[in-house]
Amino acid sequence: IKDFQVENEPVFGYMPGSPERAELEAALKKYQSQVEDVPIMIGDKEYRTNEVKHQVMPHDHSHKIAKFYWANSELIQKAIDTAMAARAGWERVPLAEKFDMWLKAADLMATKYRQDLNATTMLGQSKTVIQAEIDSAAELIDFLRFNALYGKEGTKWQPRSPDPNVTVNKLRLRGLEGFVAAVSPFNFTAIGGNLAYTPAMIGNAVLWKPSDTAVLSNFTIYKIMREVGVPGEVVSFLPADGPVFGDTITKPPHLAAINFTGSVPTFQRLWTQVGQNLPNYIGFPRLVGECGGKNYHLVHPSADVTSVVNGTVRSAFEYCGQKCSACSRAYIPESLWPEVKAGLLAAQKELKVGNVQEFDSFMGAVIDDKAFKRISGYVDHAKSSPNLSILAGGKCDDSVGYFVEPTIVQTTDPTDRIMSEEIFGPVLSIFVYPDAQVDEMLTVANKSTPFALTGAIFAQDEAWLVKATEALKDSAGNFYINDKSTGSVVAQQPFGGARMSGTNDKAGGLQYALKWTSPQAVKQTM
Ligand code: ALA
Repeated sequence: IKDFQVENEPVFGYMPGSPERAELEAALKKYQSQVEDVPIMIGDKEYRTNEVKHQVMPHDHSHKIAKFYWANSELIQKAIDTAMAARAGWERVPLAEKFDMWLKAADLMATKYRQDLNATTMLGQSKTVIQAEIDSAAELIDFLRFNALYGKEGTKWQPRSPDPNVTVNKLRLRGLEGFVAAVSPFNFTAIGGNLAYTPAMIGNAVLWKPSDTAVLSNFTIYKIMREVGVPGEVVSFLPADGPVFGDTITKPPHLAAINFTGSVPTFQRLWTQVGQNLPNYIGFPRLVGECGGKNYHLVHPSADVTSVVNGTVRSAFEYCGQKCSACSRAYIPESLWPEVKAGLLAAQKELKVGNVQEFDSFMGAVIDDKAFKRISGYVDHAKSSPNLSILAGGKCDDSVGYFVEPTIVQTTDPTDRIMSEEIFGPVLSIFVYPDAQVDEMLTVANKSTPFALTGAIFAQDEAWLVKATEALKDSAGNFYINDKSTGSVVAQQPFGGARMSGTNDKAGGLQYALKWTSPQAVKQTM
């Protein structure tokens, strides 16, 4: 443990006949044939309220896979009291012991529980096998291992005093003085693990509100963390109505931090509530948020068409476009358009949309009824607007599952709302520009949305790449050159954006692990 080093967890192939495929098929069968009862967890106790909810399979929404309960404000308050009583004792557990637990959990996730995490993610969040493997296996495991490593690295650096009378001069990493609330989204199982357990690793007590549509996979994480020794008092598992949770956690004086991934309006609401309550807090709560994007692919006339087509199709349509990093708007020069268009249409035709348990599916269903309505609303807008034409896809059918075809829209107006609003679904909008206006497109890509999460430029012209990289400096927290806008890997491309995309605290990086400490400088003289 003292000298551990970490590498990214490899992704399995799931080829027919492979042992991992057989194990996954068995796990899928198990979770599909039961409705798991998921309690609220506070300390060692299970709670069930009258607000009973179900998690269904998005690709077959009459099929329930979990029953769970919304915590009411009394239970949320009980979790706050529990966290406050537990935090000092947990903080005293040496960091090395905590890192050891995190590494043990990661090893269990990589082996014994890998297919439980994958199956619950596939069925509950409608991810294909490879999308689940990248998320609920590799990324989740990487978050635990690398955050432990970063915790270790972060305690290595120490300030020094030249004064010979000083016997001790150090920085002590303390937990925050209060409780941390983690609010996680449905689209990555790994994000739930990171949001709840990175603050806990460094010595905080946490209230974790998972997304209703990711309860089963998130509870699987919770159970594994308990198994390796994380006390129930340190992380409470609290499915809840969003506003009830927000109203309850923002009131007490000891709110120390909110670790959030979700929508802009929800984060703004929490921020406003914290602002209004400032006089009542013992300190300044730390707010960390990741809130989405409207990510661009900007293509220069010198670009390689094959990488543009492959990268754009993958970025826009993998996981139904439900990644905050997904490419949602593309700017293509007229000279390349015939070739790019032919490539996109041919690729779109090959994408199999369907049940994620069929291993050759490229896309499952979008997450729920609300998402289906929002996304199909944009498709209807494309159908009815004179500035927009649907080049491929456009079919939306929620009779069995919440299915939306991968849809490619061309617009003659780069300011149309389809080019500026976050859709969070498999809808790619394209503006074809005259080649001579390529530099104007830098401003359009940079300025036409409130977001700044990810962006990609494609060109072989080196001088333009340099110019564009500088011009687009503030347009994205994760910026790609000749590569798609998705697919950041923990510790390789720390992830997060600024502007309305969030506080850019970079999940999967050193700063993120240390964000949850309140360091104390200690000086002792003879
Ligand atoms: N971190 C994920 C990606 O980059 C969202 O695609």
